[in-house]
Amino acid sequence: MRNIIITGGAGFIGSHVVRLFVNKYPDYHIINVDKLTYAGNLANLKDIEDKPNYTFVKADICDFETIMGIFRKHNVDGVIHLAAESHVDRSIKDPFTFAQTNVMGTLSMLQAAKLYWESLPEKWEGKRFYHISTDEVYGALEMTDPDGIEPPFTTKASSGKHHLAYGSKFFTEDLKYQPHSPYSAAKASSDHFVRAFHDTYGMPTIVTNCSNNYGPYQFPEKLIPLFINNIRHRKPLPVYGKGENVRDWLFVEDHARAIDLIFHKGTIAETYNIGGFNEWKNIDIIKVVINTVDRILGRKEGEDMDLITYVTDRAGHDMRYAIDSTKLQRELGWEPSLQFEEGIEKTVRWYLDNQAWMDNITSGEYEKYYESMYANR
Ligand code: NAD
Ligand code: DAU
Repeated sequence: MRNIIITGGAGFIGSHVVRLFVNKYPDYHIINVDKLTYAGNLANLKDIEDKPNYTFVKADICDFETIMGIFRKHNVDGVIHLAAESHVDRSIKDPFTFAQTNVMGTLSMLQAAKLYWESLPEKWEGKRFYHISTDEVYGALEMTDPDGIEPPFTTKASSGKHHLAYGSKFFTEDLKYQPHSPYSAAKASSDHFVRAFHDTYGMPTIVTNCSNNYGPYQFPEKLIPLFINNIRHRKPLPVYGKGENVRDWLFVEDHARAIDLIFHKGTIAETYNIGGFNEWKNIDIIKVVINTVDRILGRKEGEDMDLITYVTDRAGHDMRYAIDSTKLQRELGWEPSLQFEEGIEKTVRWYLDNQAWMDNITSGEYEKYYESMYANR
């Protein structure tokens, strides 16, 4: 029996991780600790909420006493920490909330785990604190053009696989941190605290840095679900800047599989990068999404291209992210299972088939917030 806290389990990635663990490990007790901010949604977990090995606790990770109480009550021996403020645009408007949740909240989780585990006779034995971070802490990569070849060009990962890339450099685990947004600065700071707890107290920690996730249950402020919903309603698609920025996209269930593998088999104190070797310019991915939504809705493919609306760029907008996940492949044998075309088809169908889920979020308060964000651009 293992008692595992998953923080942020009502959010996008967290809900996939909770579902995977609850279904795959009936002997584990999964305790989902989530404050239910605007991004937390228990509807994401409807299918598993009655399982006997699942408990939901509504709590703020910054509330140290409450978190301490959860450790004691459930005799917690593992933490998978996902709770965070996650949207870059919000961090530009409200950096304090990001520092509070992402830095102080992580510190509160670490300190509770430390005090509780140190109080036990076996101390760190069999314990694990796994912190989920982002590739954004590494900063931004350039769009380079080696040998005069116009990107994207085919390159070979150290794993030996060929893939398309927009530059010759990648994020590897040994790169120095260079965060640019308040979101990534707060995540970087939380990563440092996690490593400090290993180095100072000997806490068994692991950190992973993942690229952009896509898939079901993502809050529709993020590019892909926002655009799917806007295309459905024939609303403008706000493309920041020229739409030339590059992101490396990974299907969320592949991230959850990697988290499962690393939680169980990863080496203590190590960092693993997780990514899809799947770089796309925003504008190209947007065109794929438009074509897919149009086709599934029975519209003429591409007829909604005129919804594309170029708007003022995001402040400090990172040009390119590209993860090198060779270490994870080499040491633990993980690789993405889905081709992007398959993943995006699955994703678009999910949002169109689950319009009630989307409408619940986008009506009311969120609609007002979104309209005001857009009006201010
Ligand atoms: P999300 O915004 O969808 O969900 C965050 C969850 O955390 C929500 O359920 C929210 O209620 C909860 N939460 C926020 N503040 C809290 C607090 N103070 N106490 C308790 N719960 C709180 O985020 P996501 O996209 O699922 O990201 C999850 C984690 O993965 C984050 O740490 C993020 O930095 C990281 N990450 C995300 C991506 C991505 O593409 N989405 C990629 C790499 C890493
Ligand atoms: O790289 C991992 C990160 O990916 C995670 O750590 C973050 O939590 C997650 O939000 C995501 O960050 P991004 O900023 O890359 O994701 P977002 O969906 O907000 O934007 C993707 C790209 O699309 C980015 O270049 C900005 C652009 N964009 C986004 C929105 C919402 C637009 O052009 N228009 C939009 O309306």
